[in-house]
Amino acid sequence: MPKVSAPGSVFLFGEHAVVYGYPAVVASINRGITVRAETNQRKVLQINSDLGTLRADVQHLPKGGRLSYVVEAVKQVFEHLGERRGVNLEITSQLPPASGLGTSSAVCAATVGAVAEAMEKRLTEEEVVELAFRSELAVQKLASRAGVSAAVLGGFLLLEGKKRRRMKSGQLPAVVGWSGLPSATARMVQLVRKEKEKRPQLFDTLFRFMGEVTTQGARCLERGELERVGILMDLNHSLLSALHIVPPRIEKMVRVAREAGALGAKMTGAGGGGCMLALVRERERVVRALQKAGAQAFPVRLGGEGLRFS
Ligand code: MEV
Repeated sequence: MPKVSAPGSVFLFGEHAVVYGYPAVVASINRGITVRAETNQRKVLQINSDLGTLRADVQHLPKGGRLSYVVEAVKQVFEHLGERRGVNLEITSQLPPASGLGTSSAVCAATVGAVAEAMEKRLTEEEVVELAFRSELAVQKLASRAGVSAAVLGGFLLLEGKKRRRMKSGQLPAVVGWSGLPSATARMVQLVRKEKEKRPQLFDTLFRFMGEVTTQGARCLERGELERVGILMDLNHSLLSALHIVPPRIEKMVRVAREAGALGAKMTGAGGGGCMLALVRERERVVRALQKAGAQAFPVRLGGEGLRFS
């Protein structure tokens, strides 16, 4: 049974702004999603996962629901290969659902890779990025290629519109704090879009500024100037706070991480709940401080490998 794993991801800079073509820096983390796939003769899609189960006729796949990203990813592969086969999927996750750690991107990328593999077709990285992106877009209506690119390619990536560049940086230690508040990316992206439509000039100014912070942050990251990267992450966080998408619990966790010696800390992902990210020199102290403040926190490594077939 082919097995494909994809890592989750975090934004060092530029979430939301990236949806409108501004730059962002995204990194893979050393936790992710694994999808096992095999074809069946019954012409059904059978999904068993930590998120729930589903059984549906492959000619009448449902829209919506908790497994919508998975179903859309399967549909994209069927369309791409011009064929529908019965498929059994088993999905396991090391990421909290709706946590803003690129869970949907990882699940789309791993599902696309695994279903194609079960149908005896090894897709190129570019094909997986594109099909996973289309799956996210089908669910969210608005999305960037940031999460799916990190899930497929791994490492640190600088994205701007359709352009993407793999950045020169070794893996870095960081800490993720999970607020315990699930947040649906689709809802948050639409919320920001509506606000942006109400105040276009204000949002353009904010996103341009965020783009400048991202560009500087990317430069510092490649030069290994991590203290500056941290300061710019703090600045990026303030701009996200100005969008009113950072809940008090995340604000507190960001403060706690900085006080415990993090180089920089910010929310990561769509906001409204989800996770924060702290760039650190030494992970234990920040993890302990966050846990003492009542948060769930765990150490991560940024910039590891992307999609893995086995
Ligand atoms: C969500 O993880 C990040 C957003 O920028 C949406 C996207 O890039 O698709 C909010």
